[in-house]
Amino acid sequence: MVETLPTKLDINGEMRAISIEPRTTLLDALRENLGLTGTKKGCDQGQCGACTVHVDGQRVLACLTLAAQVEGRQIATIEGLSAADGDLHPVQAAFVKHDAFQCGYCTPGQIMSAVACIREGRATSDSEIREYMSGNLCRCGAYNSIVAAVRDAAEAA
Ligand code: FES
Ligand code: FES
Repeated sequence: MVETLPTKLDINGEMRAISIEPRTTLLDALRENLGLTGTKKGCDQGQCGACTVHVDGQRVLACLTLAAQVEGRQIATIEGLSAADGDLHPVQAAFVKHDAFQCGYCTPGQIMSAVACIREGRATSDSEIREYMSGNLCRCGAYNSIVAAVRDAAEAA
């Protein structure tokens, strides 16, 4: 019998209580314990960025973060990005406008990363956007459109 620990996570402004093993990653807690499947697992080794979420406003890889590590901190996922009335966040809207995704699997991570990239002030030129978005891989090769979407959203911010 594996021991589980009661853990409280602040996800998108809501306190969620779960019981998890100490080894459970934030990524698995989101997807398997909390039913928030927007955050994706592309590698589980910190190499693809599909699992990017925010902790206290900073982008982090949820596959390399233990859920127990982030108890008491503010976690934001793609599901919490749109407004309460359903209006898309400007970065989400820019991704749609610029066709910045195809299969959509890397997209939640790209968008969470882009929101943080803009907030970090690292979206002032195309080359800077490419550099600071390079932790998010896209097999569909949507990079040109992603850069256009991030630039558009950054200019509007
Ligand atoms: S699943 Fe976390 S970086 Fe790939
Ligand atoms: S849209 Fe398919 S991997 Fe990026």
